[in-house]
Amino acid sequence: MKKHIVLLPGDGIGKEVIQSAKDVLEAVAGEFDHSFTFEIQDIGGCAIDLHGTPLPDSTVTACAQADAVLLGAVGGPKWDRLPSHLRPEKGLLGIRKALNLFANLRPVKAFPNLLHASPLKESVVNGSDLLIVRELIGGLYFGTPSGRSADGQSVVDTLAYTKKEIEQIVDKAFQSAQLRKGHLTSVDKANVLESSKLWREIVEEKQAQYPDVMVEHMLVDAAAMKLVTNPGSFDVIVTENMFGDILSDEASVLTGSLGMLPSASLNQAGVGLYEPVHGSAPDIAGKGVANPLAMILSTALMLRHSFQMEKEAHLVETAVQAILDDGYHTADLEVVNGHKVGTAEMTKMIVELIKSQSATVSILNCYV
Ligand code: IPM
Ligand code: MN
Repeated sequence: MKKHIVLLPGDGIGKEVIQSAKDVLEAVAGEFDHSFTFEIQDIGGCAIDLHGTPLPDSTVTACAQADAVLLGAVGGPKWDRLPSHLRPEKGLLGIRKALNLFANLRPVKAFPNLLHASPLKESVVNGSDLLIVRELIGGLYFGTPSGRSADGQSVVDTLAYTKKEIEQIVDKAFQSAQLRKGHLTSVDKANVLESSKLWREIVEEKQAQYPDVMVEHMLVDAAAMKLVTNPGSFDVIVTENMFGDILSDEASVLTGSLGMLPSASLNQAGVGLYEPVHGSAPDIAGKGVANPLAMILSTALMLRHSFQMEKEAHLVETAVQAILDDGYHTADLEVVNGHKVGTAEMTKMIVELIKSQSATVSILNCYV
């Protein structure tokens, strides 16, 4: 298959981990006779420096024409003092909106060899395997009005949703639950927020269309607690943009490090943007020590969701698993008796495994 992929390295460690993604994809293409072409575009702080805006039109056009987009990370102290419309984060929010990427899938799976790397007890983390379905282009991060009053004495942000916007993310979550264990937890704050009351009503309405899915409602504060006390009780979580942002960072402690969490952002047409959940980590940028696994696992999600290359996706995921099973890890993870390696070395080991295992990959036991 021929596929054209836009790479958005962004800032900080984004540039380093995007290189890992490209190396992995080139190995996959070689093994399975695919032809992947790559095009680099600017976003975030580097785009501010080069184009005076965090999201140049040329980036939006290239992404809209691509078969899929891979993004590293945006942001850094250099751009922290800019007015909010010029911050690197606006580039990320803007590209999500421009491509209509309403569904953000964030799988969180505890790898057996990293159980002790989590600050939580092994007995709590063991067996965690959940998917956060975060609404990505509405809610509190996009609602208007948003801003300060002219006299600077008051401020407003708006949490707005249409019924249609909630319906499409809830449908996606039900469908994701059908592909997994059939258990959906809808997270809201329906005891306080109007938006959450509508959200809950829609989940209840939709339930009739998915009789094979068991639904549970949970308030976001309770969900935050349960994520770190009984994470194994979750299968699929669906929630509003900001709740999903916060809960997914929290859930990353189950995997030992934020450096392990991939994500897929999808629209109705199936075009996707794939990015690690972690940020640009300016403190370690340029040192060659960043964990490339969240980015590499994001490329697996791209192979699966945008290209329907299940076997290839599974091969990438099993290679990651095998590296961890052998005790290799980057500096963000504390692994007892492990072997600490840098970004390039870890990537190279994964590439070698992809090359040596491609003939024997089977798609049993893969996760969605
Ligand atoms: C994320 C990030 C972004 C978000 C920021 C950088 C705008 O935290 O992808 O989770 O809040 O969506
Ligand atoms: Mn976040």
